[in-house]
Amino acid sequence: MSPAEQLKRQAAARAVDLVRSGMKLGLGTGSTAKHFVELLAERVKEGLEVVGVPTSEQTRALAETLGVPLATLDEQPVLDLTVDGADEIGPGLALVKGGGGALLREKIVATASAQMVVIADESKHVATLGTFPLPIEVVDFGVTSIRRSIEKAGKAAGCHGLLTLRRGPDGHVFVTDQGHLILDAAFGVIPDPGLLAARLAEVAGVVEHGLFIGLASRAILAGASGVTVLDR
Ligand code: A5P
Repeated sequence: MSPAEQLKRQAAARAVDLVRSGMKLGLGTGSTAKHFVELLAERVKEGLEVVGVPTSEQTRALAETLGVPLATLDEQPVLDLTVDGADEIGPGLALVKGGGGALLREKIVATASAQMVVIADESKHVATLGTFPLPIEVVDFGVTSIRRSIEKAGKAAGCHGLLTLRRGPDGHVFVTDQGHLILDAAFGVIPDPGLLAARLAEVAGVVEHGLFIGLASRAILAGASGVTVLDR
């Protein structure tokens, strides 16, 4: 395992320690969340009783293969704990998420959870959000017009930058699990994430954006000198 993957696994291992039998869990998406699901599956084999609600088809397939009992969010609408990765972790544990394209389900699942714990290597911890392009999920209608409205909304929140329609590795336009598209907004700096979130929420055609504000209560960050826990 590469040193970077080892750090993600260390953070995931700390999060698994928070899981108790009987818990209903939100299962995140991405390479760090994958470590969590793998380690959780080991505990399940040893007798831990949990039910997981996956935040993507990718995570559903992984958890199913590894034998983690699953439910839909409609079957388990109230969750104890969601463990997920992030693309950036800023002040107040405000997050940028959606690099893997699962932001909509991730936000719904995190919102349904009593606690959201974010796991990452420490490189994701930043002083200001925005270096990672902000994923914005939009409907598949009038994207050019929606893009202009997002640019306007961004400017009103002090954010300027290029919006790119996301494509998959095959070159085709990326379509989310919910059948939407993603515009990645390279703002560089997001001076006021709360203001930007509010402005984006007003744009017709925006389904959701990757700013997660007030959702994560803990971050577990792994670095060369060990694991750090940040609580909000
Ligand atoms: C998925 O849509 C994302 O929100 C991921 O949680 C985020 O991109 C972090 O992914 P990695 O753990 O792979 O960096």
